[in-house]
Parts: sequence; structure tokens; C-alpha cells
Amino acid sequence: MSAQIIDGKEVAKSVRKSIKARIATLKEKGVTPGLATVLIGDDPASQTYVKSKVRMCEKLGLYSEAIGRPADIAQAELDEIVAQLNEAPNIHGILVQSPLPSHLDEPAVVKAIKPEKDVDGFHPYNVGLMLIGEPNVLPCTPHGIMKLLEYYDIDPAGKEAVIVGRSNIVGKPMAAILVQKAKMANATVTIAHSRSANLAEITRRADILVAAVGRPGTIDGSMIKEGAVVIDVGVNRIDDSNDPRGYRLVGDVDFDSCAARASWITPVPGGVGPLTIAMLMFNTVEAAERSISG
Ligand code: GUN
Repeated sequence: MSAQIIDGKEVAKSVRKSIKARIATLKEKGVTPGLATVLIGDDPASQTYVKSKVRMCEKLGLYSEAIGRPADIAQAELDEIVAQLNEAPNIHGILVQSPLPSHLDEPAVVKAIKPEKDVDGFHPYNVGLMLIGEPNVLPCTPHGIMKLLEYYDIDPAGKEAVIVGRSNIVGKPMAAILVQKAKMANATVTIAHSRSANLAEITRRADILVAAVGRPGTIDGSMIKEGAVVIDVGVNRIDDSNDPRGYRLVGDVDFDSCAARASWITPVPGGVGPLTIAMLMFNTVEAAERSISG
């Protein structure tokens, strides 16, 4: 089998199209959805992500406020930034880019964001609602992956879904969404991780495989079932002197060997990435709508 490509750029475009009219309606009511991004330190990958988020806000006519602070910021100062954004009427969504420098208490920062402005869906209140099947906001990357599956009519119901990676950002919420008793879910879900024994045995069971570990080459063609749907969340920079940037991006999946066996596969770049940003815009618009619906 040779896999068909899941085109994240195309799906992200359709998501953006679906929120355009909602943004216009909000503006007619005098509300411009506003997103604040908070970037601590100068990690190049994080800078790139935040820049893309700000650029997409501009493209869609959302208000954005990009806050940057040096890596040695004190916890109290970061807490104060979040407290002010919580109260800012023109800000509907707050995104503190992860990971934070190690001296900062990231879980405390996540909990300090008002749940109604938590457009990442990381606040324990929102995580709880997601787990019990009453989602308020879904984390952007797993939500985007669900949009990819929906767009290509890949129904996880009754399928074996294996997620490699147990982060709070992707792995755990992805599992929680796929296992729900809900339309386009109902999968049998396994989470594998760095301490799993016999990873290949587990991944070979997958009808739908989601790789989200942040390590190139974690999954190769010998580790997947013929006809599997392969979703690659990894965004890894590897040195490449032929590229003007000095690096290129690769996923967690060895694309060529997996594409030879899979039925569907996401490329890197151009697969999951565009959806993460599109769903952040979607979550910000929803937060703005809720702010005026009482
Ligand atoms: N770092 C990597 N992905 C994300 C994300 O979706 N949200 C935030 N806040 N930080 C990230």
C-alpha cells in the first residue's frame, strides 16, 4: 500500500473559513476576539511558534498582544502578567508558550489562567470537563487531529488507536478525546510512552497511530500495521547544511517507510502543525463568543 497524504494546510484553511463569519458577527457586536501570547526566553522553536500564532491573528483580523520576557523572569512577575491579562477586557484567550524555563512553576501558571480564557485547554477545570465528555475547550493539537480525521472521513469508532507519548499537551488529551462515547470517537485507546516495553508490538496493533514524543525516527515502517492511519505530531529540527536556515523539520515518524505501508499519513511540515494554529484561532473565537453570551 502507498499512503494518501493528509493535507493539513487544506484542512486548516477550511477551519479558518468556518470561523470567518463568526469573527465578522462578533465585530458587528463591537467585539474583536483578542489573543495574548506570552513567550518567556528565546528558544528559537518557541519564537517561531508564537510568531506564527500572531501572524495568523493578523490574517484573520483578531487582536493579538505578544508579550515577551527574558528567561530569568521571576515567578511573581509572570504571575502578575497573567493576572493582568485575566482582567483585560480586550483579551479573550491567554497562551503561555510551553515549555517555560525550569525555575518557573508551569503547572501553577496554567492554573492561574482563568478557565474561560484558557484557549489551550490546559487548565485542570477544562481538562476535567473534557474527561467527563462535556468539553468546554479542547487542546489545540488533539482537536486539530480530530478535524483531520473528520475531514478525511476516518471514523475511529471501534478501531485500535495507539498514542505514543503521554504529554499533557497532546498524548493524554488525545486519548481522552478518542475514547469518548461520542461521534467520531469510540476508539479502543492505548497510550505508549518511553517506559513501555515492546513499543513495536503495541504500535503494530494500531489502526490509528498518533506519534507525539518529539524524537525523530521513533516510528518506522516495520512498526506499523499495513493500512494504518499515521498521524505525526513531531516537529524536530535537524541540522541540514543544504537548507538556508541550517536545519530542516522532521516528524517522529520515518515518513518514507511508513508511507509505503500506511493508508493515510500526515507529512511534516504541512500535516498536524497548521491545525494546531487554526484550532487556537477557533478556541479564541469561541472564548470571545462566550464572553458576550454571559
Ligand atoms: N508548546 C508546544 N505546543 C504548545 C501549545 O499548544 N500550547 C502552548 N501553550 N505551548 C505549547
